Amino acid sequence: MAGRRGAGAAVAAWWCAVGLLLGACLAGQTSEYRRRLGSAVDMPLDADVFRAPPGHNAPQQVHITQGNHDGTAMIISWVTTSEPGSSTVLYGTAKDNLNFSANGKHTQYTFYNYTSGYIHHCTVKNLEFDRKYYYAVGIGQTVRKFWFRTPPKSGPDVPYTFGLIGDLGQSFDSNITLAHYESNSKAQAVLFVGDLSYADNYPYHDNVRWDTWARFVERNVAYQPWIWTAGNHEIDFAPELGETKPFKPYSYRYPTPYKDSGSTAPYWYSVKRASAYIIVLASYSSYGKYTPQYKWLEAEFPKVNRSETPWLIVLMHAPWYNSYNYHYMEGETMRVMYEPWFVKYKVDLVFAGHVHAYERTHRISNVAYNIVNGLCTPVHDQSAPVYITIGDGGNQEGLATNMTAPQPAYSAFREPSFGHAILDIKNRTHAYYAWHRNQDGSAMAADSMCHPILAADGRLLRQFPVIDIHTDDSWCCGYST
Ligand SMILES: [Fe+2]
Repeated sequence: MAGRRGAGAAVAAWWCAVGLLLGACLAGQTSEYRRRLGSAVDMPLDADVFRAPPGHNAPQQVHITQGNHDGTAMIISWVTTSEPGSSTVLYGTAKDNLNFSANGKHTQYTFYNYTSGYIHHCTVKNLEFDRKYYYAVGIGQTVRKFWFRTPPKSGPDVPYTFGLIGDLGQSFDSNITLAHYESNSKAQAVLFVGDLSYADNYPYHDNVRWDTWARFVERNVAYQPWIWTAGNHEIDFAPELGETKPFKPYSYRYPTPYKDSGSTAPYWYSVKRASAYIIVLASYSSYGKYTPQYKWLEAEFPKVNRSETPWLIVLMHAPWYNSYNYHYMEGETMRVMYEPWFVKYKVDLVFAGHVHAYERTHRISNVAYNIVNGLCTPVHDQSAPVYITIGDGGNQEGLATNMTAPQPAYSAFREPSFGHAILDIKNRTHAYYAWHRNQDGSAMAADSMCHPILAADGRLLRQFPVIDIHTDDSWCCGYST
């Protein structure tokens, strides 16, 4: 190990020398690309992507999410509109032999003058790892069939590919983003960083737009799990309408396996998936000291076994580091509370949304400040995560085009365009990450990211990202201990 570190240090020195020569090492870049504006308009109610499936009481809005902590369960959800119908799911590993069944429940809610359909949730359990399962819903009436694949059993070198989508909405651009993501067929699950339907932008929070959104995304989320994060557009707090229960439509429609990670609310929880440990935080639930979320996260970080799941990823909605002039510093109070833990436990990646643009930071932290010392500037810190804002799904509110200038030193790359990202984990030390801008269909920003590796004595060794030159967005490089 010592020999490898020695060689790594030499590699680091060489690359940084190259970087200094090029004047590019740790420099930030503001993309000069400017996307045309003005098309972020919601699709009309009669758009084909919103069409309900044919047949009496046919299940619609089918979606799945991971159903327990280790990935051997799946929560399957759907809506029926004429009558409750069956909450049973038939499933199996052969397309024509769905020899297992699970019984779910249905529920219903009202929101001002809206009454939902019959919302079914059914958890299928005791699934085998890394198997394709076929499933059917609408049993006894109009049956619809789908399939999904369970993740491989967790292990340090288990490869897995995640998609990253945020702030999607239901505009024409949202449809382009989803289609673009679908064209990246390697991705096996979506880490969704919040703000789903934007129904609350409509008069009376018209919950019909929750239904249209769910019909729109069914073509993907019925086949691969989306790991949900709650955004501000999920709050739906409208006392002027008599609606005072925060997250009411969201929580009726999008369950999470929070109890399996010891959480006491569906908005913060964790799951393991292949070599990744994913912690979902709630930007719009209490997170101050002594709150349930604080106490849960405090207990959660020490539970992460990096020998089993070396990749530690955190999802939240409001970004901590954001150099756009939109939602500036809205994540600051949570950062102050939790950032020391992120550094202590060497979180690899933090994905957030909320700002409708793309941005990636260097590995930076800002944990030295103590009121009297004035140390409040983010510094490069190899124990700190990379922060990525990926709130560029394409919703009707449009792009965040206005940025702080000059670009802060912590910001590595930023561009206001719609898109999504792919995180392609290869093994415990390498992952390939790419942001895909909608317009041209190619990877705009591709990065190769290294990871803490374990020394023989169990210590975590922190690696710098390995350099991976791309014309638009790359970062610096090497090994360290
Ligand atoms: Fe948001």
